Amino acid sequence: MNNILVVGSVNIDYIFNVKNMPKPSETITAKSFKKQYGGKGCNQAFSAKLTGSNVDFLACVGTDGDGVEVKKYLSDLGFCNCSIKECDESTGKAIVMVSDDSENMIVITPGANNLLTPSVVEQNMDLIEKNDIILLQNEIPEQTNYYIINKAKEKGKYVALNLAPARHIPDEYLKQLDCLVVNEIELKFLGKSIEELLDLGVKSILLTLGKKGSKYITKKEKIECDAEKVNAVDTTGAGDAFMGAFFSMYNEGDIQKSLDFATRVASVVVQYTGAQVKKISLIK
Ligand code: RIB
Repeated sequence: MNNILVVGSVNIDYIFNVKNMPKPSETITAKSFKKQYGGKGCNQAFSAKLTGSNVDFLACVGTDGDGVEVKKYLSDLGFCNCSIKECDESTGKAIVMVSDDSENMIVITPGANNLLTPSVVEQNMDLIEKNDIILLQNEIPEQTNYYIINKAKEKGKYVALNLAPARHIPDEYLKQLDCLVVNEIELKFLGKSIEELLDLGVKSILLTLGKKGSKYITKKEKIECDAEKVNAVDTTGAGDAFMGAFFSMYNEGDIQKSLDFATRVASVVVQYTGAQVKKISLIK
């Protein structure tokens, strides 16, 4: 169990289950529809919290009805501190299409997530001070992530960034990361090999490989975990759940345990629709 701050996005996910993905210009009818809470930041915070850590969450919602719903939902989840700023924008939303072969396509409109500025973080500096591990992703403004990386590292905190959705990050911030979490596509987008990233100064890379499992790589070690074979129905948010669970269990002395645990969590998440699956709280 760790003390974790997640700064990041929260969305309402509109999930359409379809037989096959629509082609350009095609209109199709969904087999079923569900509205759930999502956003990569919220998914990570949910996973870290439900797997037993003390979690603070800093996010922005809109002044619309969705914002009211999200605030109530987050308050019911029981984060230690949940600092949710209301902004004059709409709450983040995502259209998620999941096909019968469990592939997904996601379109987001960030709305209030784009207003999570460095000044919002500055007003909540106590959250950085009181936690040990800070989790970030790329659904809030890049300047905010850079600000947090600088401040958190000045204060000696552990910082992990999930490079999703993929976007470039200057070396001066990249090299300060304790952990860069990427999948193969994001790694390719970055245009640097794992060796180059480690040489630059990134302390560790957590590489997620979907069905093939995951790897944790530092200059000194490479630890691997195979993914469990399960009947996946929706892989949305599996990477977020994996990251939240990994850092919930994170212990520098036993990375294999964290990796195995996060893998079990992700394997449960993919068996249900939606990114936030309450059953993960039962995983030991
Ligand atoms: O990683 C999955 C998440 O991406 C969804 O919950 C959606 O909101 C988008 O942010």
